[in-house]
Amino acid sequence: KGQPESDLRTPIVCVMGHVDHGKTTLLDKIRGTTIADGEAGAITQHIGATEIPLAVITEVCGPLFRGDFQIPGLLFIDTPGHHSFTSLRSRGGSLADLAVLIVDVNEGFQPQTIESINILKRYRTPFVVAANKIDRISGWLPVEGAPLAATLKAQSERVRGDLDNRIYELVGELYKQGFNSDRYDRISDFTKNIGVVPISSISGEGVADLLMVLLGLAQKFLKENLKVRASGPGVGTILEVKEERGLGTTLDVILYDGEFRSGDTIVVGTLKEPIVTKIRALLKPRPLSEIRSEERFLPVKHVAAASGVKVSAPKIESALAGSTIRVVSEDEDVDAVAQEIRSE
Ligand code: GTP
Ligand code: MG
Repeated sequence: KGQPESDLRTPIVCVMGHVDHGKTTLLDKIRGTTIADGEAGAITQHIGATEIPLAVITEVCGPLFRGDFQIPGLLFIDTPGHHSFTSLRSRGGSLADLAVLIVDVNEGFQPQTIESINILKRYRTPFVVAANKIDRISGWLPVEGAPLAATLKAQSERVRGDLDNRIYELVGELYKQGFNSDRYDRISDFTKNIGVVPISSISGEGVADLLMVLLGLAQKFLKENLKVRASGPGVGTILEVKEERGLGTTLDVILYDGEFRSGDTIVVGTLKEPIVTKIRALLKPRPLSEIRSEERFLPVKHVAAASGVKVSAPKIESALAGSTIRVVSEDEDVDAVAQEIRSE
């Protein structure tokens, strides 16, 4: 499938929010819808991430799709909502170019909703609020996969009023956190207001709207940030340090800048001195079609940002989740790069 000619890399979109508010279900829905649209081949499952190419988003959005976008797609990262996973959320948040903050409209703001907002504030990450589970509002008539405007038309006056009240509650909570916001279709300036998009991760209502708002944010806020970062020495964040049978210790990495090649010299952060080693193998998940194969991972020679990839290398047992992994290019001094990572 043709990707647009550009040097902008894929924006990383972190999905955050309180436990059970529907983060994983939303990503499943986006994957499922796009697979149902006959685009299965176009979606790439990464380590810890899912990439949705622009062509697929265009198709899901249908008539809603407007504008001229140069980004290749969106790379979604799921995060756990349970309170014990603060560090994983924070790591995801620090990586994200954009975020979706999911709030169950029936429960409103909860402790990890606020914690997520604090992470987004800390990193100044532009975000959109997905007001999820609208199908649970009493009397709601789900219109499978419909854009917001269409499903609102199908609802009674009372149900629409009920949804509006819940959205105003979210707007009030966001105001307490220092943000102006409104239902997204009532906003004209997304640099001053946070958009709230009512969705159902189960019926898919509003999901096309959510993807459109994300593309809009990516185009508005990130153009400069995303430039010239799909090539050059790779820099990533370690999400997890994992033992894999037959591979030993591996690093699950989100590569957000440049490229990794097998054989590259890398510097990896630890609690003490950074490790200097070489990439032995780069591994991606096998495509769904090959899921019955014995080996779960597929070796690749090269990956470019943004990507989720598993890195196998010698001597990485003491690598620290959350720290940086960086390629040292031929014209760079290994000690200088190690010093840079040590002082993070
Ligand atoms: P953690 O990963 O534990 O933080 O939870 P999560 O945010 O990923 O929530 P998850 O997607 O696992 O959803 C939790 C439950 O809510 C599941 O039973 C989902 O089926 C249900 N759920 C999620 N979204 C919706 C929705 O839009 N409507 C309805 N009715 N149920 C939903
Ligand atoms: Mg989940």
